[in-house]
Parts: sequence; structure tokens; C-alpha cells
Amino acid sequence: MKNKITIIGAGNVGATAAHWALSRRLGNIVLLDVMEGIPQGKALDLWQAGPLDGYAGTVIGSNDYADSADSDVVIITAGLARKPGMSRDDLLAKNVAIVKSCAEQAARYSPNCFMIVVTNPIDAMVYTAFKASGLPKHRIIGMAGVLDSARYRTFLAQALGVAPADVSALVMGIHGDKMLPLVRLANVAGVPISDLLPAEKIAEIVHRTQHGGGEIVNHLKTGSAFYTPGLAAIEMAEAVLTDSRRVMPCAAYLNGEFGIAGCFLGVPVVLGEQGVERILEFQLTDDERQALSESVEAVRKQMEETGL
Ligand code: 2OP
Repeated sequence: MKNKITIIGAGNVGATAAHWALSRRLGNIVLLDVMEGIPQGKALDLWQAGPLDGYAGTVIGSNDYADSADSDVVIITAGLARKPGMSRDDLLAKNVAIVKSCAEQAARYSPNCFMIVVTNPIDAMVYTAFKASGLPKHRIIGMAGVLDSARYRTFLAQALGVAPADVSALVMGIHGDKMLPLVRLANVAGVPISDLLPAEKIAEIVHRTQHGGGEIVNHLKTGSAFYTPGLAAIEMAEAVLTDSRRVMPCAAYLNGEFGIAGCFLGVPVVLGEQGVERILEFQLTDDERQALSESVEAVRKQMEETGL
């Protein structure tokens, strides 16, 4: 149990991520939050499930960054979540200050960590954490594409009546309405979805994927999704901790890839022990390039609003 994972924010996403991490035997967890008692109580509860689930990882709840020292992975989930009628952008001003403080303090105690940012609006928050932490670009990333692609795959699997695991699909771009669920590359065990579903059904699924977070917020009313966002972050952490070199869509810092530079955006990334080992660049069609440039425009607008 040598891996140490700190999860900042003991709300729904943070506590659920801790649960998935323990259940996957990823290491020892520190659940950190400014709210006194919440991380301690949830950590105790999670720890006591060990004998039943069979995990041996420890989990401590804390309000003190000193307890996060020398973490291998830091996951930032702290911040306000959406309520019905709110866009992810509506959270920006409040969450910039929160993420800035979390990233600064976490990096001070764990200068060699790999940082995963989950707080919304993710593309601007990972940029905020990048600036605040001073971490190199290959050791900081935003969680979004894994979640959005999982939603896309789920909806496709349902429409096709096949196992979700056999659907392969990629969502690129911003974590927002302008995200780009690629139709051309989506397939079931290698068979293109355009050969299996009518164009109108595919368009409906693309639209549902782009609004998948809002659909859940509208049901919950008091917050946003947390089971799949929590697991998506842990999938990414696992790839780094096990040096698996799995390929996942993540908000990575672009330095000319896809003709984009100076911002974080969802692209396919090879994740391994160095963090972002490589960005898988490929040829986009004119329509895809146009859609991606709309994502870039939206992310740059968010970045300006961070004032960083
Ligand atoms: C979502 O899409 C929380 O933004 C997250 O559900």
C-alpha cells in the first residue's frame, strides 16, 4: 500500500472518488476539506468498510494540508457544484479562489505529485491550478473527457443493445455544451456506429451527451453528478499509479497539438508514470476542426475570466 492519494473536497465527488480508490486497492487515502468534521466522519465510515470489501488501504480525514505531504496523486474536487439553471461557467468566479488555494497548498506539500482537477468549469480550473501550483504541464490534468465519453458510450450501448464496454468512443474539447463527441470514430468492437444507427438517432445521442451533466443536475436539484465523475478521476489516477499507458480523453495542456497552444483542452492522452506521456494527435475533418475551435474560443473566454 505505498501509493498515497489526497482528495481535496469531501463532498459527493470527493468522497465517492475515495470510495472507488479504496475499492480498487489503489493505496492510502487522505480526504481533505475545510469543513471540520466532514472529512473525518466520511473517512472513518469508508475505513470501516475495509473488512467487508476486503481493502486494506487506510483513509484519514483532515483539515490540515500537512497530512497530504508526499502524495503521489492529488485530486481537487473542492468548489461549488451546479444547481438547476446554472451553467458550469456560473461557478467560475467562486471556484477560482478555492482551486487556487487548494492547488498552491497541495503542491507545497507534494511537489512531485500528479494533480487531477475535477472542479468546474474544469478547463479553466485546471489552468488555474496549473498557474497556482507551478507543476509542469505533464503532471497536471483535468478530468472531463473520461466522464463525457462514458456518458456517450452508455447512450450508444443502450441504443444498440450491446455491452457498454464494447462501445469505444471519444469526446474531445471543452467540458461544456460545445464538447465534441466524435461520431466518425465511435464504434462497437470496430464496427462504425454510422453503419448501425440512423443519423437522427446519433444526433440525438450526441446532443444528450453534450447536456449529460445538466440532465443529472435537473433531476437532483441540489447538486451535480458524482458517481461517474468520481470514478473517472480514479481511472486516471490508476493509469498513472500503475504506469498502464491507457489512453483517455483528458484536459491536457496543449503546446501546438491540433494547432492549439496555451490552454487545457480535452484530447486523447497516454497516461503513465510520468503523467501525460503523450498526446495522441490525429487528423481532424474540417467540421471537427471547426467544432474544436469553438471549444477553444469558449475555454479562452473562461481563462480570461480567471484573471490569471
Ligand atoms: C458533470 O458533467 C459534474 O460537470 C460534471 O456531471
